[in-house]
Amino acid sequence: MDAELFEKMGIFYLGRDLEPKTLRPTKIPTLVKSKNFTTHAAVIGMTGSGKTGLGVDILEEAAIDNIPVIVIDPKGDMGDLCLTSEKLRAEDFLPWVEDEARQKGEEPLEYARKIAEMWREGIESWGQSSDRIARFKSHDATIYTPGSTAGVPVNVLGSLDAPDAATLEDPDALAQSINAVVSSLLALLGIDADPIQSREYILIAQILKRAWMAGEKVDIGTLISHIITLPFDKIGVLPLESFYPAAERFKLASSMNNLIASPSFESWLTGAPLDIDALMYDERQKAKISIFSIAHLSDEERMFFVTLLLSRIVEWMRRQSGTGRLRALLYMDEIYGYFPPSKNPPSKAPMMTLLKQARAFGVGVVLSTQNPVDLDYKGLGNIGTWFIGRLQTRQDIEKVIDGLAGKLDAELDRDEIVKTLSNLPKRTFFYKSAHEKGIRLFQTRWVLSYLKGPLKKRDIAKLTAAKKKPRTASLSHETPKSPAAQPNGKSRTPILSSDISQRFDLALSPGGLYRPHLAAAATVRYVNAARGIDESESLALCIPLDDTIDYPDWDEAEPCDKAFTQAPKKPTGDTAFAPLPGSVTQAKNFKAFQKALKDHLYTQKRLTLYRCRKLKAESKPHESLETFKNRLMEILEERLDAEKEKLQSRYAKKLQTLHERLVRAQQKLAKEQEDVGKATTGSLVDAGLAIFGALFGGKRSAASKLGQAMKGGSRVLKERADVQRAQARIDEIETQIDALKEELEEKLDELEEKYRLERYEIETFFIKPRRTDVDVEMPILYWRWEPVA
Ligand SMILES: Nc1ncnc2c1ncn2[C@@H]1O[C@H](COP(=O)(O)OP(=O)(O)OP(=O)(O)O)[C@@H](O)[C@H]1O
Ligand SMILES: [Mg+2]
Repeated sequence: MDAELFEKMGIFYLGRDLEPKTLRPTKIPTLVKSKNFTTHAAVIGMTGSGKTGLGVDILEEAAIDNIPVIVIDPKGDMGDLCLTSEKLRAEDFLPWVEDEARQKGEEPLEYARKIAEMWREGIESWGQSSDRIARFKSHDATIYTPGSTAGVPVNVLGSLDAPDAATLEDPDALAQSINAVVSSLLALLGIDADPIQSREYILIAQILKRAWMAGEKVDIGTLISHIITLPFDKIGVLPLESFYPAAERFKLASSMNNLIASPSFESWLTGAPLDIDALMYDERQKAKISIFSIAHLSDEERMFFVTLLLSRIVEWMRRQSGTGRLRALLYMDEIYGYFPPSKNPPSKAPMMTLLKQARAFGVGVVLSTQNPVDLDYKGLGNIGTWFIGRLQTRQDIEKVIDGLAGKLDAELDRDEIVKTLSNLPKRTFFYKSAHEKGIRLFQTRWVLSYLKGPLKKRDIAKLTAAKKKPRTASLSHETPKSPAAQPNGKSRTPILSSDISQRFDLALSPGGLYRPHLAAAATVRYVNAARGIDESESLALCIPLDDTIDYPDWDEAEPCDKAFTQAPKKPTGDTAFAPLPGSVTQAKNFKAFQKALKDHLYTQKRLTLYRCRKLKAESKPHESLETFKNRLMEILEERLDAEKEKLQSRYAKKLQTLHERLVRAQQKLAKEQEDVGKATTGSLVDAGLAIFGALFGGKRSAASKLGQAMKGGSRVLKERADVQRAQARIDEIETQIDALKEELEEKLDELEEKYRLERYEIETFFIKPRRTDVDVEMPILYWRWEPVA
C-alpha cells in the first residue's frame, strides 16, 4: 500500500537505502522527488558499476509518472527500455535471449525460461507488481536511428526549418542555432569548416539566416539551388562574385547534390522530422520515451546528430512557459567526448545552455559517465544531484570528491567518504543532492526492462518493424510523375509572349525534362482584434500542367516552395520540354488565373484554432491540436501538483503525529514486557517514513533514527494485561495510520480524476480572412526540372 501511495505523488523509486557503515540493506526505499531532477543529475561509475541500470530505473520512473524522456544512446544499451514484458513469460524473453543462448550453447527456450524467472524474482523482490510493469509498458518507447532505417529514421536534413521567433530575435541564440546546423551539415559533407574563415560556412550561414529571417522554408534542395542563384549579391562588403565565384559555387552545389543522391545519405532524409514537440506525448496524452540510438554512426555523424538534437531541444525549451515541475527528462548514457573540460566540440555549447537554463523550463538533464574528467568543470557546477558508483582508482575517487567540493556538508569527513567510495559493490551508489541534507547510500532497484546490453541493428529492426511509418519524400524538387507527359524527342523552349513570366529550375545534370507548372505566391492575413491575432501566412501553390489539363484549376494545386520566384529566368542544360496546355500560352488568361486563386484562397483558407472554455485557454495560431492538448495537460498537471502538495503536507502532519504516538506506544510495550531482550525489531512502516523524507527533505535523518528506536512487537508474554493493553494501543494506532493513508490515497485518486484532460472539452473554431486580406501575386509559368530515367 505504501508503494501505491508514493506512485501517486511524483516520487521516483530508485532502490533501497543501505546502512552506511556496513552496507547492509535497510527497509527504507530510496525515494527521490521528480522535481529534484530539474536541477540535473550526474551518474559516475566505472564500467559495470550499474550506471545504465540506474539510468533505466530513473527513466522508468519518469515514464510511470507521465514525464516524457529523450534518451541519447551512444552505446546502444538504452534500447533495452523497449524490452518489457508484463507477464514475464519465457516466450516473451525468447527473441531477446536467443542469440545469447546459442553463444552459450544452451537450448534457447530453456535459457529464456531461466532469464524470465530471474527477472520475475528480481522485480518481485523489489516489491514491484506486474501492474507496475504494465503502467510502464503503456508508454510508447521508440528507437530512432538517424542515418539508418533499422529503427525509426529521422529526417534531419530534409527540413532546415527556422527556429522560433524568440530565437530569431536573440542574436546569440540565432548564432548558436545557425552554427549548429551549418557546422554539423558541413561536417557531414566531409568539409572541415572553420566558422570564421571557411567560405562554405559563411555562404551557407548567410543563406540560412536570410531565409529564416524572411520566414521561408528551407530544405536541402532549396539550399542547393540558393547556393547557385543567390538571393543576395554581397557577403559583408565583398561582392559575391569575388568572394565566391559562380563556377565554384556550382561545384559546391553539385558535390552536395551528389552526396544527397547517394543511397547511404538518403537515410538522413527519410522519416519523421526532428520535432521535439512530437516527442512529448502520444495522442492519448501519455508521455513518450524516445531513444536516439547512434551507436551505428561514425564519430563525425554522432557529433553532428547530437549537436543538432541538443540545439533543437534548446530551441524547443525556449518556447515553453516556465514551470517548477519536471516537464521532461533528457538522459545521455555515456557523455564521453561531448562535454569535455578543455575542448570545444559543437555539442558543448547547446549542452552548456541546457545545464544553465533548462531548470526554469522544467527540463532535467541526466548525464552518465565512467570518468569524472569527462565532464566540463563549469557544467558540473550546474548539477544538483550526484550518483557515484564504484570507481576504478583512488585518483578517480579523489577527482569526484574535488568535483563535489563545496556541495558536501562540512561535518562530513573526506577520508570517511573516500573509504566508503572505495568499497562500493556494483549497483550501489553514493547519493548527494542539493535538495537533501547529508548523504545516502543505496542499491538500485531491479529494473522493469530486460537489460540485454547493446542492441544490434538487427534487434532494433525487429523491435521497430511494427511501428514503421511509410517513408515520406522530402526533397522539394521531387515532382510527382504525371504519366501522360512523356517527352517524345527533344522539344525546344516554347515561344511565349514576354508578358508571361517564366522561371526554370536549375538542371543539375545534363539531359532531363522540364515540366510546366502554373505557380503563384500569395499571402493570406488573418485578423482578429479581440484575440490580438494578426497573422500573415505566406504560401506558394503550383498546378502541374500535364496534357490532360486544358484549363488549370487551383483545386488541383499542391503547395510548393516559394523558391521558384528566385529561380533563373532562362532554362539551363540540354533539357527537353513537356508539352504545354493551350490556355497557359495566352498572356491574357493569367489575370483570370490570379483572380481564380484569390477566390480559391478566400473560400478555402482558415486559421484553425482550439479552445477549452473550462480552462479559459485558446490555442495560438498554427499551434496543432496535439500541442494545444499538451499545453492544457501541463496546466492541469501544474494545478494537480499544487493541490497534491497541499494535500500531502496536510496529511503528513497528521501522519507524523500518529507515528510519534506509535513510537511512544511501542516504547511503552517494550517496558511492559518482562523480557525486553527478546523483543524483536518492530515492524515499523519504514516506507511510510521514507515518503516523508522524500517529501520534506530534511526530515529524513530524523525518520531513520526513529526507525531504529522502534523495538518491540514481540509475540511473547501476552498474558499480562498491561502488555495486552499496550499491544492493543499499538494495533489501534496502526489501524488509524492505515486508515489515514487509505484516505490520502483516495483523495489523490479523486484529484487525478478531477484533472484528467478528457474532462475538459476542446472545441474547434476558425478565423476567416477578409477578401481584401488575400493577396495573390501574378501567377507565372514555372518549369520544374527532373532527371529522366
Ligand atoms: N538495476 C538493475 N537491475 C538489474 N540488473 C542490473 C541493474 N543494474 C545493473 N544490473 C546488471 O549489472 C550489469 C552491469 O550494469 P550496467 O550495464 O548498468 O553497468 P554500467 O555502469 O552502465 O557499465 P558500462 O560503463 O560498461 O556501460 C547489467 O548488465 C545487469 O546485468
Ligand atoms: Mg552503461
